[in-house]
Amino acid sequence: MAGKLTDKVAIVTGASSGIGEATALALAAEGAKVVIAARRSDRLLALEARITAIGGKALSITTDVSDEAQVEALVNTTGAKFGRVDILINNAGVMLLGLIDNADTEDWRRMINLNVLGLMYATHKVLPLMKAQGVGHIVNISSVAGRIVNAGSGVYNASKWAVGAFSEALRKEVYQNNIRVTIIEPGLVATELPQHITHPTVREQMKNYYGSVKNLESEDIANAIVYAVTQPSHVNVNEILIRPIEQQA
Ligand SMILES: NC(=O)c1ccc[n+]([C@@H]2O[C@H](COP(=O)([O-])OP(=O)(O)OC[C@H]3O[C@@H](n4cnc5c(N)ncnc54)[C@H](OP(=O)(O)O)[C@@H]3O)[C@@H](O)[C@H]2O)c1
Repeated sequence: MAGKLTDKVAIVTGASSGIGEATALALAAEGAKVVIAARRSDRLLALEARITAIGGKALSITTDVSDEAQVEALVNTTGAKFGRVDILINNAGVMLLGLIDNADTEDWRRMINLNVLGLMYATHKVLPLMKAQGVGHIVNISSVAGRIVNAGSGVYNASKWAVGAFSEALRKEVYQNNIRVTIIEPGLVATELPQHITHPTVREQMKNYYGSVKNLESEDIANAIVYAVTQPSHVNVNEILIRPIEQQA
């Protein structure tokens, strides 16, 4: 399929739903070969079929992004199959909100292991390939929660602030290798993200909060990502903060 990303190879983590799914479709529609990764294989295979049906190219690789060995296999398989990785979309994430006191610390481990370490593993694994190619683009999905801290969101906030700090250090380390780094910071997007909150009361509160404004759609974020990765090669779009018009905080 011809487009602004023809011949480019992109890995999208967390592609089985929401923002990752929409982004994989949008990149494929611009001609990129997309490698789609997440844990739910059935959803990945369905997306692979949708991309193929619109004339695109996709390869699904079941991956738990919080597992370093699986992330290494994801990048190695992509390299072996397509010979390069031009774009990495570090999107997989969970938002397990709740107060710090009395928290289930397993929620903390899941957030840090995926939102922070998973993103770091994937970045670490693609860098040698991107450096050897002399070009690359890493897009890290943070959040408004990476800019504004709230009670009840301490560890999710910490995970997304970590994404911001890591991304800026990364940019300073790799810009001379012609590798671009972009942070995307969405506000409320209509996805299944809040449904995975383990605390029933907090889950209900977030359902009401999401229901109180007209949310962004995953495609709105995918459009911002496509914008960032299709700029001329001298342009490094470092940060995009994008809220629904009705969202104040
Ligand atoms: N929705 C919002 O309001 C919002 C706002 C700001 C930022 N974000 C960020 O946007 C990103 C995408 O979230 P979303 O809103 O699209 O939510 P989503 O629909 O729940 O998507 C999350 C994705 O992450 C994947 N994932 C979860 N655990 C994983 C693991 N251990 N290994 C691999 N993949 C895993 C899920 O797939 P599997 O379950 O199949 O593995 C799914 O594909 C997240 O980083 C989130 O923090 C979302």
